[in-house]
Amino acid sequence: MKIGRVTISDRAAAGIYEDRSGPEIERLLAGAFGADAVFEATVIPDDRDLIAAKLREFADDRRCDLVVTTGGTGIGPRDVTPEATLAVLEKELPGFGEAMRMQSLAKVKTAILSRATAGTRGRCLIVNLPGKPSAVRECLEILAPAIREGVAHLRGEDPHAKK
Ligand code: MTE
Repeated sequence: MKIGRVTISDRAAAGIYEDRSGPEIERLLAGAFGADAVFEATVIPDDRDLIAAKLREFADDRRCDLVVTTGGTGIGPRDVTPEATLAVLEKELPGFGEAMRMQSLAKVKTAILSRATAGTRGRCLIVNLPGKPSAVRECLEILAPAIREGVAHLRGEDPHAKK
């Protein structure tokens, strides 16, 4: 099980502040997937072509089963993560973004400012999360069962098979 985590932030990439969301993704997914999970990590600026290239690299060349991005999903002038993601997806999974917004809205009224989406490229599941560590926690909690099942489907496993 190979998991790519991509932090998308001009300031984190420039070293202006520490990336806390990427390590939080790793901590939570290591907990969810156990010792089976191996991580590839990167921090890149909010550049559409760079984001798309990194997603292709993680999905196609590094053969990640799952790639989770954090940041760049809002409406700031530099926020382009959903556009870059859509450019590389083969099948969009709009339910991931819908569930994140619907369920997070009960807790944080700003949840609907995120345009996060998800989908598949080959056998890789790609999921956008918002940029804050608290948002990473809130959204991964909502999405974890579907991520687990989606990855199993793409790997050709029966997620309900008894071990
Ligand atoms: N979703 C959850 N669950 N928790 C949050 O704190 N923050 C929101 C939203 N989604 C938030 C959330 C805010 S304030 C913004 S601006 C958008 O995500 C976009 O964040 P991003 O541009 O860092 O991706």
